[in-house]
Amino acid sequence: MRVVHHLAELRAERTRLKDPLGLVPTMGFLHDGHASLVRRARLECASVAVSIFVNPTQFGPQEDLATYPRDLARDLALLEAEGADLVWVPEVDDVYPPGDQTWVSVEQVTRRLEGERRPGHFRGVTTVVAKLLHAFEPQRAYFGQKDAQQAVVIRRMVRDLLWPVEVVVCPTVREPDGLALSSRNSYLSAGERMAAGVLYRSLRAAAEAFASGTYQAEGLRQILRATLAGEPLTRPHYVSVADPETLQELQGEVSRALLSMAVSIGKTTLIDNMLVGGEGS
Ligand code: PAF
Repeated sequence: MRVVHHLAELRAERTRLKDPLGLVPTMGFLHDGHASLVRRARLECASVAVSIFVNPTQFGPQEDLATYPRDLARDLALLEAEGADLVWVPEVDDVYPPGDQTWVSVEQVTRRLEGERRPGHFRGVTTVVAKLLHAFEPQRAYFGQKDAQQAVVIRRMVRDLLWPVEVVVCPTVREPDGLALSSRNSYLSAGERMAAGVLYRSLRAAAEAFASGTYQAEGLRQILRATLAGEPLTRPHYVSVADPETLQELQGEVSRALLSMAVSIGKTTLIDNMLVGGEGS
């Protein structure tokens, strides 16, 4: 496995990799969710590349950029064990040349949910992912369903910009109590960690209600809210029952929906989601 830092080194190493190349973009502090993306890329591609970059432009001024967890040595050991071929660990200047003034932004699907809660977040995500796609020129790029809106936004960007890359979205990897794996779970105290299982419980409760005939969007939102309310440590930012492609909030009877939420527990905000109906049920 080759580990490179500067763009010129990356481009030189890229020419040595066989196509199709699968890219797994990450912000490091890797867990089994990331490992599952690398494994899937390994199965489907001749070569696998990973980026590790805590992207400053996707953090708001009050967010956790300075304290975001980092452990490069552990990340590289995990990637070596998973059989990655190439890892890019750039500095900020390698990705954002000083004086840069170019952004990539996607419009409607970034406005609600995480886009509303975190203004500017998706502009940072799409700009960095666009740069990563240019730098690596992969045939496939792998993302987790845990960041459902991010996956929708990136798919839209790739489609709208006519990019010859397949966006592969892989299932959320969960702890035994259902908590979705996330680097930010490391912020939780023991009590908060216990409480955090309620996100999955509420999604399951709504998905089970849907499976037994509760098709009204508002009824599903109420189940999400009521289950979260049973855990006193939680502070929901939103619960949503939305169209899985447009992310428009749904009203009335639904046949297919993305159930999602952002919930603070102590100082940590967690997001999670589940698809119901269609392929999600
Ligand atoms: O999902 C993430 O870890 C990040 O948003 C990504 C896609 C690596 C862009 O910085």
